[in-house]
Amino acid sequence: MQNHLTIDRNGQTGSPAAAPDQPEYMVRATGVVKEYRTGTSTLQALKGVDFSVARGEMVAVMGPSGCGKTTLLNCLSGLDDITEGQVWLEGVDLATLSDKQRTESRARRMGFIFQVYNLLPVLSAVENVELPLLVSGVKSREARDRSREALKTVGLERWAGHRPAELSGGQRQRVTIARALVNNPAIVWGDEPTGALDSTNATDILNLMRDLNRDHGLTLVIVTHDPGVGAGCDRIVRMRDGEVVGEERPSGEFGLDGLGLTHGTEDGVQMPSRTAQLTRELYGQS
Ligand SMILES: Nc1ncnc2c1ncn2[C@@H]1O[C@H](COP(=O)(O)OP(=O)(O)O)[C@@H](O)[C@H]1O
Ligand SMILES: [Mg+2]
Repeated sequence: MQNHLTIDRNGQTGSPAAAPDQPEYMVRATGVVKEYRTGTSTLQALKGVDFSVARGEMVAVMGPSGCGKTTLLNCLSGLDDITEGQVWLEGVDLATLSDKQRTESRARRMGFIFQVYNLLPVLSAVENVELPLLVSGVKSREARDRSREALKTVGLERWAGHRPAELSGGQRQRVTIARALVNNPAIVWGDEPTGALDSTNATDILNLMRDLNRDHGLTLVIVTHDPGVGAGCDRIVRMRDGEVVGEERPSGEFGLDGLGLTHGTEDGVQMPSRTAQLTRELYGQS
């Protein structure tokens, strides 16, 4: 296992004031309760979750459908308000931030990779990748340069001018990863990032995430159904029915080949309105 406490983010300095008692945590959550109220009934999707992630760690969150994995990700990244408990990101208590500050924090410090690629079909790969930079005010020339660099990191520099429809499912997910990386985030959240890929592409994407973690010290939290992905992470956190029920450290050997546990669809280009909405939710596009 790597010593995540010594990893420095590639020239990145000046993280926001970390609470002195927890400088090593990228994310720390205690007693998180999340209730959804629909009409007269209340559903407790998270029932007092404690969860922490060290800087440079790659953590899988696993558990049955409906157990609260996506809810946890949304609460930890500040996309959703929590009902009770506390969440610190890089030592900053999310409750002390306004909605605007949380949105800014996502745009500056976080990347997101989802099962469906959420790429705008009318934009080329490089244009899709530069979106989070443009919405956070980076000049177009610099945004384009950094987007090309991010595409290079994921091995797609030759495909920069191609639209999603001209790319394979695995290539599209690489574009999504490039977009998640382009703002040089402190943490990347993945919600079933390999869920729509066949096993070969899923293995590629897992290897890419693993490389980014090892080579760039990127912190990743990955919700996954895929035991192969879990086995490729430093730690697996198990959830059930709104609670964390256990955790384990895989041996380090991983791979998806032959497990046959990934899903088969590659039809992941999203409708523009949904993608635009998602971009707004994540990065506060005006
Ligand atoms: N916006 C919402 N409103 C009401 N209930 C929700 C909402 N989002 C999720 N839930 C419920 O919360 C529970 C956890 O959902 P979710 O976090 O999506 O699970 P998972 O990602 O593990 O499949 C489920 O019972 C789900 O129906
Ligand atoms: Mg989910």
